[in-house]
Amino acid sequence: MASPSTGFPSDFFWGCATSAYQIEGAVAEDGRAPSIWDTFTHTPGTIAANENGDVAADHYHRWQEDLDLLQAMGANAYRFSISWPRVLPQGKGKVNAAGLGFYDRLVDGLLARGITPFVTLFHWDLAQAVQDRGGWPARATVAEFEEYARAVAHRLGDRVTWWITHNEPFFSGVGGYFLGNFAPGLVDPVAALHASHHLLLSHARAARAIRDEARGPAKVGLALSLSAVQPASSSEADVQAAGRFDAFTNRWFLDPVMRGEYPAELAQRFAPLGTPIEPGDMQEIHEPLDFLGVNYYSRSIVRHDDATPFLEAAQVKPEHGEFSLMWEVYPPGLFELLDRLWRDYHPPLLLVTENGMPLADAPDGRGHVEDGERISYLARHLAQVQRAMARGIRVGGYFVWSLLDNFEWALGYSMRFGLVYVDFASQKRIPKSSAEWFHRVIQHGLPQGAS
Ligand code: FCB
Repeated sequence: MASPSTGFPSDFFWGCATSAYQIEGAVAEDGRAPSIWDTFTHTPGTIAANENGDVAADHYHRWQEDLDLLQAMGANAYRFSISWPRVLPQGKGKVNAAGLGFYDRLVDGLLARGITPFVTLFHWDLAQAVQDRGGWPARATVAEFEEYARAVAHRLGDRVTWWITHNEPFFSGVGGYFLGNFAPGLVDPVAALHASHHLLLSHARAARAIRDEARGPAKVGLALSLSAVQPASSSEADVQAAGRFDAFTNRWFLDPVMRGEYPAELAQRFAPLGTPIEPGDMQEIHEPLDFLGVNYYSRSIVRHDDATPFLEAAQVKPEHGEFSLMWEVYPPGLFELLDRLWRDYHPPLLLVTENGMPLADAPDGRGHVEDGERISYLARHLAQVQRAMARGIRVGGYFVWSLLDNFEWALGYSMRFGLVYVDFASQKRIPKSSAEWFHRVIQHGLPQGAS
């Protein structure tokens, strides 16, 4: 039931999302061992301006202040991730009590502020020790991830209900092992194919481990990076290419989880690489979800391209349109995506687990950070969420990426996504005008004319 005052249901989750490596810093504290992102960022030439997450937003030390900011915004949910090498420095074996203790306090701190925790187990920071044993391309990593999931759920499962196994496995698998722009920075299609399959299998094993360990009603899902894919022209070649691009970037992870199978045409194209699938894997991966997390930023316009290996499809930048520092701004794509997911996959519930906009924010002469463009971006996307809900599509929440300005992976600190500005030299936080706007929306709903 929509609440008459906001136009959103009273149990709608309003939150912000973050991830461990992007905000925590304290990379060598309290027994945390390196992750692949520590190794990658300390390899010269991998990251813009050779930046790294050693200190990031220093959230490890400032988490209480950060949770206060979240509370002041009126958020009733917070999506954060756990650093595997903080909890299990060697990836498996002995649990590091101090590392797990940090997240234990964080969960208590959220609950004390009336904020529901959404825990992501894996947001790309694989323990380096696991990578040294083969990383995601090695099947043994699946069992290690299950062990890690079990350790975390055992400790937090009495207070945490909402769990996200993986964030955007496409980027862990394909970005890290094939495109090479993400850690561990390999360019090896066979490794990427195996990594992707093992990520999916590890999702299912972790989901079961969480359900076993939870002392309350666990809700388990995963967060996928999804875009609305459209052909660059109505030519048959472009339409086919858009289909393949969609199969790779959207359906390669959706279909196994939601239907228990890989997209057939693409599986055929990848067949020369060999298969990591063992008997029973696909049934396991088809483990039922409680919700599907949607990370949406933009659409993809695609044309046929002989030069792109396997796919023969390439993304093109539209000639006209509105662009952020990173992507095209295309709010209707969020409705198109939610509608399509609802019709094609019948998930029990959808959550927008990430949506946001990078800007080169800076305080003005009065020390205010005015980010009207971000407000416009968020308002127009939220209006699309509302449009989807009006059609009966069950969307249970909306998480802005991100709470704080943070380390934006290969692009370093140049891309500011936060509702809260961070001066990385002093670590001073300044809520931007978007934080005040979000607060008003949570209380009163979207202003008229936000679409
Ligand atoms: C998503 C990632 C998140 C952040 C945003 C901008 O792909 O999940 O960590 O980098 O993009």
